[in-house]
Amino acid sequence: MTVRPEELRSHQWYGSGIASGLRSFSHRARTRQLGYLPEEHLGKPVIAVLNTWSDINPCHVHLRERAQAVKRGVWQAGGFPLEFPVSTLSETFQKPTPMLYRNMLAMETEELLRSYPVDGAVLLGGCDKTTPALLMGAASVDLPAVFVPAGPMLPGHWRDEVLGSGTDMWKYWDEMRAGLIGETELAELENGLARSPGTCMTMGTASTLTAAAEALGVSLPGASSIPAVDSGHERMAAASGSRAVELVWSGLRLSQLLTREAYEDAVATVLALGGSTNAVIHLIAMAGRSGIRLTLDDFDRIARTVPVLANLRPGGRYLMEDFHFAGGLPAFLTRLTDVLHLDRPTIAHTTLREQLDGALVHNPDVIRERDEALAPEGGVAVLRGNLCPDGAVIKHIAADQRLLKHTGPAMVFDDYRTMQRTINDPALAITPDHVLVLRNAGPKGGPGMPEYGMLPIPDYLLKQGVRDMVRISDARMSGTSYGACVLHIAPESYIGGPLALVRTGDPITLDVEARSLHLHITDEEWQRRAAEWTAPPERFGRGYGALYNEQITQADTGCDFAFLARPGEVPDPYVG
Ligand code: FES
Ligand code: MG
Repeated sequence: MTVRPEELRSHQWYGSGIASGLRSFSHRARTRQLGYLPEEHLGKPVIAVLNTWSDINPCHVHLRERAQAVKRGVWQAGGFPLEFPVSTLSETFQKPTPMLYRNMLAMETEELLRSYPVDGAVLLGGCDKTTPALLMGAASVDLPAVFVPAGPMLPGHWRDEVLGSGTDMWKYWDEMRAGLIGETELAELENGLARSPGTCMTMGTASTLTAAAEALGVSLPGASSIPAVDSGHERMAAASGSRAVELVWSGLRLSQLLTREAYEDAVATVLALGGSTNAVIHLIAMAGRSGIRLTLDDFDRIARTVPVLANLRPGGRYLMEDFHFAGGLPAFLTRLTDVLHLDRPTIAHTTLREQLDGALVHNPDVIRERDEALAPEGGVAVLRGNLCPDGAVIKHIAADQRLLKHTGPAMVFDDYRTMQRTINDPALAITPDHVLVLRNAGPKGGPGMPEYGMLPIPDYLLKQGVRDMVRISDARMSGTSYGACVLHIAPESYIGGPLALVRTGDPITLDVEARSLHLHITDEEWQRRAAEWTAPPERFGRGYGALYNEQITQADTGCDFAFLARPGEVPDPYVG
């Protein structure tokens, strides 16, 4: 399919000559005001460059420059680039969690693309929630679009050790709490954990989601592992701008790429990468915007068909730069060709098969062969049981394997602050066998389902050498975290899910092999506690939070807003 200039969406705004009317005359006059000549933009695809750059976002701080490279590529290919600053969701700084604002960025993305003279888009981002947010919004508008991943930061360094952002922060903080390192070491670590702009360079949430975007076929092949500060990243950005222009002319819209097959391949990819549990929520939400019902059962089913083949932290040894030089995602996907849908298109090639042709693994310790897999099955297991009737997840490959079948007494914390305040109190007499339970940390209760799921192990147990315990919550967990942490329990406790009924001392059984999580109390006791339960007060009286509270869906359906997730048409604006 080939689009003619008069068929461009932006032509409705710009038109040409007197016949196109007063509005087009005004839009042309205002584009002169912007400093552009008619021949620089008329009849050319307008490419919106959505930039999530901000001074507060270390993962995106290089994107202001990178947007220039994207624009260069757009001009080069005969398009007209216009940059739009959009919300920045900084995983580190935004509280209570950027998850509260993922859907806000998705709305902003959708409405900007819809309301302005835009023919195609380049989406720049990568820090955790940004990738799903941009793609959810863009999928809802369904224009041609290219996702430019922000790229991982350089590997961290401390003395003679290589550090992973996030992962080694948790590790060394625990070492400090256990009395093994002090102020001097911490000050040095502060300088070495995150050495350059870019997203976390472990296989955390950011790298998992940018890999998913590449697997979906909406980023250029190999783009997701290019280090943020590598010159190759700038070249990739320019090529992405050019590609966006070509996509507009060819008429290839996101809906032609984001099919059920593509989402299943993205699921297989993140599971084989041993990626972040957050991907479960985000991919379900993204698929929903493409009109596809992806479920927890899809994850569990696909998990049983793919081994973990990426030897990357937090589950393995290496970092994203190693993965890049080992061949990156194209090489990685050659290991999964038996489960992938190779005949589907991507932004770069007519078929995924063609895209993977010639890709080679250069380091078989980083990208493993199947018979050297890090785990025989995909990295996330979906649990069911009376504590999680709508499901829960555990990243079992990043847990102490001893704990994957465990029964122990519950130690319940009603909220995160209480837990923080009391967890180290020896009077609680927590033992390594206890099951730590945190509630009111879900989508509504958190609010925003913060990454509280890796509950801290009490100081006194750390000093005894304990490094993992079974922990359960309706929260999420950082993709760089690890441990026997059951997450995303649905429905959440704040709305009266079963987690709300647990009391300290109740026995709980986790059995990952059986995919179950069970609370052992009698039916009568269950009924009695349920009848006694009263709903906590609403978190927000007004503002965005009130909208969030009214519309947010549960973890098993992706935490989208109900009014954004539901099917239905949105008319294109009348450009008169
Ligand atoms: Fe931004 Fe990890 S904090 S990707
Ligand atoms: Mg993270």
